[in-house]
Amino acid sequence: MRTLSILGATGSIGRSTLDLAARHPDRFEVVALAAARDVEGMLGLCRRHRPALAVMADEGAAGALAAALRAESLAIEVARGDAGLVAAASAAETVVAGIVGAAGLPPVLAAAASGKRILLANKEALVCAGELLMAAVRAGGATLLPIDSEHNAIFQCLPDGHGRPPAGVRRLWLTASGGPFRGWSAGQLEGVSVEQAVAHPNWRMGPKISIDSATLMNKGLEVIEAHHLFGLPADAIRVLIHPQSTIHSLVEYADGSFLAQLGSADMRIPIAHALAWPERIESGAPVLDLAALARLDFAEPDTVAFPCLKLAYAALEAGRTAPAVLNAANEVAVAAFLNGRLRFPAIADVVNETLQRLGLSSATSLEAVLATDAEARALAGRLVDRGIAA
Ligand SMILES: NC(=O)c1ccc[n+]([C@@H]2O[C@H](COP(=O)([O-])OP(=O)(O)OC[C@H]3O[C@@H](n4cnc5c(N)ncnc54)[C@H](OP(=O)(O)O)[C@@H]3O)[C@@H](O)[C@H]2O)c1
Repeated sequence: MRTLSILGATGSIGRSTLDLAARHPDRFEVVALAAARDVEGMLGLCRRHRPALAVMADEGAAGALAAALRAESLAIEVARGDAGLVAAASAAETVVAGIVGAAGLPPVLAAAASGKRILLANKEALVCAGELLMAAVRAGGATLLPIDSEHNAIFQCLPDGHGRPPAGVRRLWLTASGGPFRGWSAGQLEGVSVEQAVAHPNWRMGPKISIDSATLMNKGLEVIEAHHLFGLPADAIRVLIHPQSTIHSLVEYADGSFLAQLGSADMRIPIAHALAWPERIESGAPVLDLAALARLDFAEPDTVAFPCLKLAYAALEAGRTAPAVLNAANEVAVAAFLNGRLRFPAIADVVNETLQRLGLSSATSLEAVLATDAEARALAGRLVDRGIAA
């Protein structure tokens, strides 16, 4: 029996994980759930999964949840704020990092420092503070298992299952569906709506990652994530457009072999893999029907229409706090687009401008990363307010 703490429980990753926990009550016990503001969602999860601890990052939401639980005589402890998130990260043997954005970094670092088994979906944490987080994993004796589908696929294609590629690995190939605007020109992207941009062709995900998929920033963040997880340089991590999202990524070996992991586009597959690793369990995902699929297509990404991918490679090459700046500016720009305050192509403009204007420093402590994050958010916010290309 493994105890589970699920950070981002009310989100897409959180709910997929809870579906798996409910399918395997003999293996997993949910002891802590954490979210930000969705009191109704959290209340429903508390009724169903009866954790010992429920955390809301938002103070007001925590108060409302505590009152609602009392009214239903549910004896579940409620905690709040950053301290509550860190408490949730310490409450179980396995921590599922499913918070969206850099907000997930402090609890993931806490889980790493206390030697947890961490199932990482929260790629922004690794993008902002890759060296720091990997060092904390090593120092704390934690086990970091990627559940981002591409990185989980690579993990599955590496020989020792511990994520460090042997000398014979030539390149990693991250596949990308291309999002809802695959094949569109820069001109066509000028007037796209939020509804069009969140409508991912293959995956059902939260709004932020859906927009990141549409701009290809998601793949850029994943390149940085892969660099930290697998220790390969930027030029050994390549991106391949694969519209069917059937091959979730590949490892290319020196002898010319390519190993790939295939499956239906259902996040329960990588999450089930990491939950049970090194064993295998049923995930409930639809079984892949290769004959019905009939073909798999591949193409180079278009970095003219989708410059975010190039910006992410440049931030990885620049190192230091550049990836944290990239991530923070992107979070601000995506939120502004979702709120109707920024045009779709201006997301890349805000990120680029923020990277150009902010000086870089070393990202050697959580405080330094959080300070950079705050500075980049403030600048990106001003750029949005001034209507950079709005
Ligand atoms: N969805 C996928 O299929 C998928 C695939 C690969 C990787 N990922 C990664 O997984 C992460 C989560 O994505 P998602 O699609 O599941 O997002 P989502 O559906 O939007 O859910 C986000 C979750 O994070 C919580 N949250 C947001 N801000 C928070 C804060 N400041 N403190 C505590 N909790 C906070 C939300 O709580 P409230 O509901 O209360 O706001 C919610 O539970 C992202 O990093 C994403 O890139 C997702």
